[in-house]
Amino acid sequence: MEKSLLVCTGSPRAGSNSRILALEAARGAREAGALVEVVNLSRLRINPCRACARCRERGPGRCVQKDDMKNLYPLIKEAGAILLAHPVYWFTINAQTKLFIDRWYAFGQDEYACFREKKIGLILTYADCDVFSSGGVNALRAYQDIFAYLGARIAGTLYCTVSGEDEVRKRTNLLKQARQLGIELVS
Ligand SMILES: Cc1cc2nc3c(=O)[nH]c(=O)nc-3n(C[C@H](O)[C@H](O)[C@H](O)COP(=O)(O)O)c2cc1C
Repeated sequence: MEKSLLVCTGSPRAGSNSRILALEAARGAREAGALVEVVNLSRLRINPCRACARCRERGPGRCVQKDDMKNLYPLIKEAGAILLAHPVYWFTINAQTKLFIDRWYAFGQDEYACFREKKIGLILTYADCDVFSSGGVNALRAYQDIFAYLGARIAGTLYCTVSGEDEVRKRTNLLKQARQLGIELVS
């Protein structure tokens, strides 16, 4: 099977640092020969899960809502690896990214299996001085539970303090780590 990586960014900002790092990871994965798809969740129409459970009647991945998730479900299923990159908002996963994750509910038990062979990468940015005071640790803990439940493997994480738009472009060490994360996700 061809190596593939789905990169999902969740920041609404122009000059987003988490997106810059994600694009660097995408570059690394492409250079390693993988097919890479990048989606900006914050620019897509992704409604909250309605908890209507119609997906349970209609079959796996069959959400009744007609929004951009319909294009994302097949990308999620087919990707060999998924990278989630977003800022920490209010001490945890930001809303733009969490809406996307909530909608995975539509896969249901039958199709949660599509996560089983996947490698997961995480990139988190935050303004506070470390992963504890920023709340980044809460996002990481949630991801541990989410991906343990789904049977996927968190293969690499990158998290850092950064705040001004585009600021991370000067941080060559972080850019290098992001590129390396991209390579690891497809190796
Ligand atoms: C609504 C909002 C909530 C935030 N909450 C936190 C927070 O809880 N902890 C923190 O350290 N930084 C917080 N920040 C700062 C961002 O996480 C930080 O600027 C991050 O680097 C932005 O990433 P980006 O450049 O990819 O958008 C918040 C910013 C916004 C706009």
